[in-house]
Amino acid sequence: MTSKSRLLVTRNFPLDVMARIRGTYDAVTNDDDHPMGMAEILKLSQDVDAILCAGTEAINSELISALPERVKMIATFSVGYDHIDVPAAAVRGIRLSNTPDVLTDATADVALLCLLGAARMAHMSAGTLRAGGWTRWEPNQFLGVHVTGKRLGILGMGRIGQAVARRAQGFDMQIHYHNRRKIEAPGLENAIFHETADSFLPVCDFLSINCPLSAETKYFVNDDSISKMPDRTVIVNTARGGVVEDAALIRALKSGKVAAAGLDVFENEPALNKDYLELDNLFVLPHIGSATVETRNAMGFMCLDNLDAFFAGKSLPNEIKAP
Ligand code: 8YV
Repeated sequence: MTSKSRLLVTRNFPLDVMARIRGTYDAVTNDDDHPMGMAEILKLSQDVDAILCAGTEAINSELISALPERVKMIATFSVGYDHIDVPAAAVRGIRLSNTPDVLTDATADVALLCLLGAARMAHMSAGTLRAGGWTRWEPNQFLGVHVTGKRLGILGMGRIGQAVARRAQGFDMQIHYHNRRKIEAPGLENAIFHETADSFLPVCDFLSINCPLSAETKYFVNDDSISKMPDRTVIVNTARGGVVEDAALIRALKSGKVAAAGLDVFENEPALNKDYLELDNLFVLPHIGSATVETRNAMGFMCLDNLDAFFAGKSLPNEIKAP
């Protein structure tokens, strides 16, 4: 009988995923789902062959270089991998995988939720009602930004950006996008490509951020870029908080230059900038883009398909390659 490979699992993933993990691997688990820091990950990695982590763990070069030789693969339960130092893993010969595709629809749904929630002042109107403050209907109460027919600028036209575009076309929005390259995608033939931010920003009646966090996209939304957007734009972020410079967005939401924002992600999650919570024109969610039972199960199974392939000596279906 061959012995099972040993796997460190840093989070308590959905039940069906944990059941498959326990069936296939000799797993070191985190049953109370406490936050695992670098010291604990290193301690528990001493006799494992691979690690299954989430976007919540910083897999930086310091951690990677301190991992024992035995650790040969890290699978992340996320499509984004800005929390992993990919070149450092390549130097150590550690293989990496992520979870593309399976969370595209769920995340795009939340982008539309944020877009509509922000545009139609859902936070303020629902909050007023719940607090007992809705005493009568008024013609000028809770007036939002009209959505139909407006221009939606999508920053990052990968899988999720395209899924957002398809949904927004259902609201008769005109799609513009800024991306490394022009895309050819069925149903998006009318989407307008902008090679430069300077041509893209002035058409963003709405801006949806759907790009990875990288050196190029860090703080893309800042005082300067906001000043180039139309007055009373609406900004939606379901990608990574670091694409937005919080202080700049908060200033613009206060001044009304940005009419409203819908944010599912923040820099330094979960410790978001407290000033956000003072704003009535903000619709906020706690990073729920992929949070459906179907999606989270599919993410977990995809991690396991990659780990299983690795241990069977096969190529990884969703390998993250060093640039
Ligand atoms: C995850 C995400 O839920 O996949 C991603 O990149 O941002 C989320 O959908 C989160 O990262 C947990 O790992």
